[in-house]
Amino acid sequence: MKRKEENYILPDQKQAARRSKTAADIQDDMFRLSDSAARLGQGKKYYIRTYGCQANVRDGETMAGMLELMGYIRTEVPEEGDVLIFNTCAVRQAAEERVLGEIGSLKPWKKEHPDRVIVLCGCMAQEEAIVRRVLDSYRQVDLIFGTHNIFRLPDLLYQVSRSHERVVEVLSEEGRVVENLPVRRSSTCKGYVNIMYGCNKFCTYCIVPYTRGKERSRRQEDIIDEVRQLKASGAKEVVLLGQNVNAYGKDLGLEDGFTGLLKATAETGIDRIRFYTSHPRDYSVTTIDAMKEYPNIMPSLHLPVQSGSDEVLRRMNRGYTSDSFKKLVDEMKARIPDITFTTDLIVGFPQETDEQFQETLDLVDYCRFDMAYSFVYSPREGTPAARMEDSIPLSVKKERLQILNERLAEHASRNNSAYLHRRLQVLCEGRSKKNENVYSGYSEHNKLVNFTGPEGLEGQIVEVEITACHSFSLDGKAV
Ligand code: SAH
Ligand code: SF4
Ligand code: F3S
Repeated sequence: MKRKEENYILPDQKQAARRSKTAADIQDDMFRLSDSAARLGQGKKYYIRTYGCQANVRDGETMAGMLELMGYIRTEVPEEGDVLIFNTCAVRQAAEERVLGEIGSLKPWKKEHPDRVIVLCGCMAQEEAIVRRVLDSYRQVDLIFGTHNIFRLPDLLYQVSRSHERVVEVLSEEGRVVENLPVRRSSTCKGYVNIMYGCNKFCTYCIVPYTRGKERSRRQEDIIDEVRQLKASGAKEVVLLGQNVNAYGKDLGLEDGFTGLLKATAETGIDRIRFYTSHPRDYSVTTIDAMKEYPNIMPSLHLPVQSGSDEVLRRMNRGYTSDSFKKLVDEMKARIPDITFTTDLIVGFPQETDEQFQETLDLVDYCRFDMAYSFVYSPREGTPAARMEDSIPLSVKKERLQILNERLAEHASRNNSAYLHRRLQVLCEGRSKKNENVYSGYSEHNKLVNFTGPEGLEGQIVEVEITACHSFSLDGKAV
């Protein structure tokens, strides 16, 4: 496939970093499937692999919805796909290399099947350096589009099929919020609902503000409609999604928009509500009060802290100190005594000293998180931290990660042991991936519970008695 590069629309990270002062234009666009694309998938299959956060999972569900509207049928076997979609994450380099490795290994397959279409989308597609690399060295990729024009997938596939040429359409400026998009959900009992797109925080290590654009909130009516539809279809849990949910509605001129939205979601009567991700800087007391007031807002919170060192937090541009974070956690525990906390942590930020790492361990000891995602810092091209001097060897960083993980496991294990013999309400998501003979699901406090019970519990909220506790899961039996 050869196509003149002037037809490509390539990403531009400098443009992506710009934030206009005016509020995002929130006038909605409506998705409509064009006649030309409508029958493209008749008799064909699609395969989609999603990496990264729940925002990407939800995007994958939208893409699946569009493809099925076009007649494509899903397959779980990549080699069977007429269209193969790689819905990627850019947050750390290791994951990016894995995706490129997988696409690389499809080269011979693509030679044998020149009519099949390989698609690269998601956050990696928003990165200049990655797109350049793919254009130069991964000729098997037929279509590249970014996170701002997912709704264009049907038309872009049509363009590829008609022209037999490579198509690249990556926008660096976010457009309007598009509504009316089809969705093929991956779970029937739990549904993801975007409440906002983008991020304005610009933590110095993070690529997301460049790959996802500025904060744009959906209108509350549209969100609540989606929650109602989920409830009507039998879902028990809704997960509200945004990179920084506490900022919901700021671009719409709402004061305390997130709390209002949370209450309205609770009023729909759906059994369970969770939300990701909260930023410690913007957490408002009214949100804690809403969590306390409505029993269907689950008593667990993912609150990424990243580091326990004030100096590192300052250089990360996080906008809080370890003391203010601890205060927030204390205040929440005071109001909602059994609340559980999970977090994200980065070790080996440029020039992080042993003392600063120790401060992170101290914070972990203080907060006693129930679970944490921990990462070695990964430099991301175009972000401020990638330009900071960094003389800490990788071996030291890896050692810190190991020490941190051991500490995290100790706290997780101690917290979990408190659940022995207790009865928990567990939303049964289905059979455990590791063992067909047990069910798995999550308790109200977001504890992973593997349990035995009679046939037919999938999708139900089940009372489970806990019989054994591990660091990152509990075992039990349905009562
Ligand atoms: N919006 C969310 C999550 C963003 S990405 C938030 O602000 O919390 C998820 C996690 O990936 C982050 O919390 C951070 O811990 C980690 N992360 C982001 N950029 C990273 C980088 N360059 N290197 C290592 N970890 C990173
Ligand atoms: Fe990245 Fe920070 Fe935005 Fe989270 S809040 S997505 S870590 S820039
Ligand atoms: Fe990754 Fe993009 Fe989510 S970079 S974490 S998939 S917003």
